[in-house]
Amino acid sequence: MQKSNNLKNRQLLILYGSQTGYAQDIAERIERQARRRLFKTRLFSMDSYDRTNLINEELVIFICSTTGQGDEPDNMRKFWKFLLRKNLPNDILNQLRFAVFGLGDSSYVKYNWPAKKLHKRLTQLGGQSLLSRGEGDDQHYLGVDGTFDPWLEELWKILMEKYPLPPNAEVMPDDILLYPSIL
Ligand SMILES: Cc1cc2nc3c(=O)[nH]c(=O)nc-3n(C[C@H](O)[C@H](O)[C@H](O)COP(=O)(O)O)c2cc1C
Repeated sequence: MQKSNNLKNRQLLILYGSQTGYAQDIAERIERQARRRLFKTRLFSMDSYDRTNLINEELVIFICSTTGQGDEPDNMRKFWKFLLRKNLPNDILNQLRFAVFGLGDSSYVKYNWPAKKLHKRLTQLGGQSLLSRGEGDDQHYLGVDGTFDPWLEELWKILMEKYPLPPNAEVMPDDILLYPSIL
């Protein structure tokens, strides 16, 4: 993949599926950190995103939890059904670089299933995974953060290498307030 240090090309889409809000919270955390790194961000639940546009996306982070018995959260069902369509060619997402982090609980038999299936399907359709799929586990003594924090650190390392900041630009430190994202 070519490096790009043009700020216009640093476009990051974050899509989440969340039943009770934790995955959404994680997605919002990623968005704030991305904006500090001067990425131009968009954030949607998977079902509120225009999925027919996925073929034009180059960089997407997916966050999804698990509900029921290994089921997808309600707000990613339509998106997931769309991805499963049999008539999608297996190179349709060739342009896509993606990362998937799942939230689950290892006391369930179908631990983190939606994230596992999503990662596999995106790969089948030609997408290239930027790093190993992350698995958040309610049973971890630090909760989801126990695996999410190191996973996100690795993701930033990879993304800042592939999309370096232009000269004279720098990551916004945590003590500087971000503008509201609607601006
Ligand atoms: C009713 C219910 C069913 C769940 N089923 C599973 C499951 O089958 N597999 C799994 O790995 N985690 C399961 N979990 C754990 C959730 O995925 C986990 O708590 C996650 O952090 C919730 O994220 P959310 O608030 O974004 O939906 C379940 C949680 C609840 C409350």
